[in-house]
Amino acid sequence: MAIQTIQWIHSGVKIIDQRELPRKLQYIICRDLKTLWWAIRTLAVRGAPALGIAAGFGVLLGIKDFKGKDSQKFLAHLKKVCAYIGSSRPTAVNLFHVLERMQNAAETHAGQSVAGLKTVLKKEALAVFEEDRAVCRRMGDLGAGLIRSGQQIMTVCNAGALATADYGTALGVMYSAKRQGKKFKVMACETRPLLQGARLTAWELTKEKIPTTLICDNMAATVMKQGKIQGIFTGADRIAANGDTANKIGTYNLAVLAKHHGIPFYVVAPSSTFDLKIQTGRQIPIEERKKEEVTTMAGIPIAPDGVTVYNPAFDVTDHSLITAIITERGIIRPPLGRNIKKAFKFV
Ligand code: MRU
Repeated sequence: MAIQTIQWIHSGVKIIDQRELPRKLQYIICRDLKTLWWAIRTLAVRGAPALGIAAGFGVLLGIKDFKGKDSQKFLAHLKKVCAYIGSSRPTAVNLFHVLERMQNAAETHAGQSVAGLKTVLKKEALAVFEEDRAVCRRMGDLGAGLIRSGQQIMTVCNAGALATADYGTALGVMYSAKRQGKKFKVMACETRPLLQGARLTAWELTKEKIPTTLICDNMAATVMKQGKIQGIFTGADRIAANGDTANKIGTYNLAVLAKHHGIPFYVVAPSSTFDLKIQTGRQIPIEERKKEEVTTMAGIPIAPDGVTVYNPAFDVTDHSLITAIITERGIIRPPLGRNIKKAFKFV
């Protein structure tokens, strides 16, 4: 894939500034943690797996200027850095898993010098990045078997290369299917309010020469009724132990519609998107974002001043609406609760 969403280069984090797409493909280099925190908060970098990678690289930015030689003080500093990164966005669990992973790596090597601990952390952050590349390709190749030539499939938000290191989860399945020679089409929902479907998914798929049709979110029911959709593939931000899945707002709508129209609804997500500490989707923290995202479009006001706004960025799809979850561990089918446990070897 030609899209390199996030990379660690010369002690900085190079990211595609997704706020600028599709108008221009522009990179920013975050050389300090505050800049990266802000890039995460404002969605310059976004998508659950990419947020995990950003969290790992963010730790490297947060520790690089630590000057002391006391490893205990370093570990205390690391804890603060992780808490700060964790305050950027609440829903995608990948970010929190990586922060925990970084702290565990450092604590396992607590006897080492500060320089040694910095090396351990760098290795860990780069491993998170490399694992994402491998895992997305594995999920893509597994999920591609669910797409047949002649089909048109639907997706929402952006679960592509731009949401991961460079390949994607839901879109990764499409890239693998294309590589296998399958001829299919994609319908992308625009994904109000921030239009990740229109701005990012349509851009990415077009760039990869996959025939793509863009629709407004409120057209989904009609195209399903018209028999134009044979499968829905989405990403995920957090999956509870029973399979309830948080993803971009509007995903739940599609799952309900899919059930009504007898269309398979697939979630594509790596193990790092599962939160097995929580039993159901009711425990997933849902990010609420500022009202201007709803009251404006491309900076232009589209609603009266002072109107009350509700802007949850994610919704939760009940496990009963999900046909299967495609992970790098295999394709998990219902009953999801039991089979998730099996996939993670808890039974
Ligand atoms: O608010 P965003 O753009 O970060 O939301 C992203 C999504 O909801 C994606 O679908 C999800 O993170 C899966 S990405 C592979």
